[in-house]
Amino acid sequence: MVWDPQQYLKFSGHRLRPAVDLLMRVPDFAVRSVADLGAGAGNVSRLLKERWPDAVVAGVEGSAEMVAAGKKAAPDIQWQQQDLASWQPAQAYDLIYSNAALHWLPDHAALFPALMQKVAPGGILAVQMPRNFLAPSHLLIGETALDGPWRSKVEHLVAPPPVAEPGLYHALLAPLSENIDIWETEYLQVLEGDNPVKEWTKGTWLTRYLDILQGAEKAAFEAAYGVRVTHAYPKNAAGQTLFPFRRLFMVAQRKR
Ligand SMILES: C[S@@+](CC[C@H](N)C(=O)[O-])C[C@H]1O[C@@H](n2cnc3c(N)ncnc32)[C@H](O)[C@@H]1O
Repeated sequence: MVWDPQQYLKFSGHRLRPAVDLLMRVPDFAVRSVADLGAGAGNVSRLLKERWPDAVVAGVEGSAEMVAAGKKAAPDIQWQQQDLASWQPAQAYDLIYSNAALHWLPDHAALFPALMQKVAPGGILAVQMPRNFLAPSHLLIGETALDGPWRSKVEHLVAPPPVAEPGLYHALLAPLSENIDIWETEYLQVLEGDNPVKEWTKGTWLTRYLDILQGAEKAAFEAAYGVRVTHAYPKNAAGQTLFPFRRLFMVAQRKR
């Protein structure tokens, strides 16, 4: 998937809010090393470095486009262009932080305990992932994919939600943790402009579908999804679009 940092950052304020909410739940402790997994365009990595200026902060990111943007936004981060699926750091980190990235990786039952093993004893794993996959914004992408001439090209992308119930993450992490805090927040996002929910998903979940299609077919897919999603999220009298968005958070301290 090709990431477009500019499209992603169109809603940077709304996307930054959960990153900051997660960061605020990480307790104060002596942090010498941080790994920001799926660090994106670096706007969150920068905040990690601001909070722990003496720590070495590594930005682990798979997209060349995002790494290029990140190096400009956060030059004092150690950028590693690397697929998280094969990430095997040489040392454990005091803090492993990940905002809005781990839902792109499969098999969370194996992934989360493996990540906790990469946290130093007493250190923290802090993760936020969207859990909005059963909302119209996301379901209508799959519905559009299965209802058009493009179906055979994109139907393999229509899959069950990648993020499980909160209880699964508790069951995976509690045996490895001293303290664990898991919660969900649904943000009522107030968006401006025309069809902003389409513009939102175009920066993330819709991109995988559009990447596969070309030219007129790609435009037709985007338009067909756009019609559906604009009916699901009509503008209010003030011309704003209310887009509720649920997110799952966890902060777990590894056993010493
Ligand atoms: C929605 S963005 C979040 C970026 C950043 N954490 C933030 O909060 O602004 C998700 C990021 O995860 C990265 N990503 C997704 N799957 C990945 C993988 N398997 N390996 C490395 N990076 C990945 C994407 O390239 C993208 O930059």
